[in-house]
Formats: sequence, structure tokens, C-alpha cells
Amino acid sequence: MKIDVRFDPFELDELELRGKNIVVVDVLRASTTIAVALNNGAREIIPVESIENAVKISGSLFGDVTLRGGERNGKTIQGFNLGNSPLEYTEATVKGKSIIFCTTNGSVAMYKSRFAQNLAIGAFVNISKVIEFIKEIRQDFHLICAGRANAFSNFSLEDSVCAGMIVHRLSADKAVALELTDSSLASQSLYKTYGRSLLKMMKNTEHGRYLTEIGFLEDIKIAAAEDSYPILPILSGNVIKLRRDDARHAD
Ligand code: MLT
Repeated sequence: MKIDVRFDPFELDELELRGKNIVVVDVLRASTTIAVALNNGAREIIPVESIENAVKISGSLFGDVTLRGGERNGKTIQGFNLGNSPLEYTEATVKGKSIIFCTTNGSVAMYKSRFAQNLAIGAFVNISKVIEFIKEIRQDFHLICAGRANAFSNFSLEDSVCAGMIVHRLSADKAVALELTDSSLASQSLYKTYGRSLLKMMKNTEHGRYLTEIGFLEDIKIAAAEDSYPILPILSGNVIKLRRDDARHAD
């Protein structure tokens, strides 16, 4: 199976991604927050690409069973119930709720991947589950780094290191016949360089520094804790849910 890593999701479109096997990685913070929300009993996450769409979709649904979550510039969007900090997605707040989720990069990459054959949401907090899933599907996979849209580049080091960790661990498994593209080899090399201390690496990235500046250092600590949420969020229909085996809170 071939593993490819995409460092810039903005050059991808939904037609190109249709029918593919995809992992969307947005360590800071969308993927991490989704893992926490589903672990804490959220019914489903509905990723959208714009605030307008979030408002439109939630129109009739908005109320007791539906929440709007997401951010712009790291902060809660006006009129939304929740921001994008995993700390907000407690069991008391999200249990049984559908969450319409709109973030700057992560939910856009997820939305673009909505016609994938298989789509999993990956981060350090659930990395072993993601690797197990890839091994189980045993077909070509695209690891999409959600990146960070800004004036300079869309590249995000923390997402690339996470993709590299996935590639590295898959390559270490002799039972897996793996073909690596140049981008997956590059991500593996980034992991080898920066993956020794995930927290230190993330505190130093552009987005890590920004989140720290606006008061979200705790979120970085949560995101750096490897396998602390051993569950797998996957696309099911048009929404993201806990994979059945992991559905600890299923009714
Ligand atoms: C995003 O999707 O751009 C991020 O998750 C941003 C954030 O840290 O809230």
C-alpha cells in the first residue's frame, strides 16, 4: 500500500479526494478536539467549511441537541456555543449532542474529504488507533495535514510530524508492504528530527506560539499526550462518529 502525505490542503479539492482513503491530521486543535468530544459522548461531529454553512445547517436543528463549535483566529465564533478548545468539550456539555464544527483549517480539510471511501481523524492523542485502522484497510492512504493558512505558507510542522510518526510506525512493521512517496519520506524525516518531545516541538511551532499567546497552553499539553484518547473518529454518512468498536458511550 502506498502512503502519501499532503502538506497543503488548500491545493486539494473534493473531486480529487473522492473515493480515497484519508486521514485528516489537525493536531492543534481540530482533530484533538474531535477525539475528546466523541470520547466524552458527543453523538456526531458535522464538519463544515464556512460559518455561513454552519449557520445554515444548524438553522432548524439549533437547540437542545445541536451545538455549534469552532473558531476563527483560535477564538470562539460569535453566536457559537463552543470554541475549539478540547477543554470545553466536557461530558456535561457534549454528551448526546450533534456538533456542527467550523474551524479555519481542520474542518475545511474534513469537509473536502467528505466523499472519501474511508476517512479517519488523526492526532497524537489517538495515533495508535489510526495506525491500526490503516493496517486494517490495507489500501493506499493519503495523510492530509490540515496546515495553517497564513500569509507565508500553509505548512504546519505539528501536523507534518504527526503524519511522519504514522509513516514511521507503519514502516517499522515488517508485516506491512509499504510504498512511501517523497512527501511521506519527508514527513518521516521531520518526525525523526522533531518527534522526540512532542510538547516542546508544538510549543515552538507558529500555531503553538500563537495559542500560547492567546491563553491556550493547556490545549497544547492535551494535544501532545500520545494515545491519551484511544478512539477512532471516522466518517459515517456525512458525519464523523466514533468507530463502532470504540463507541463507549453508544446508547
Ligand atoms: C484549525 O482548524 O485551523 C485549528 O484547529 C485552529 C485552532 O487551533 O483552533
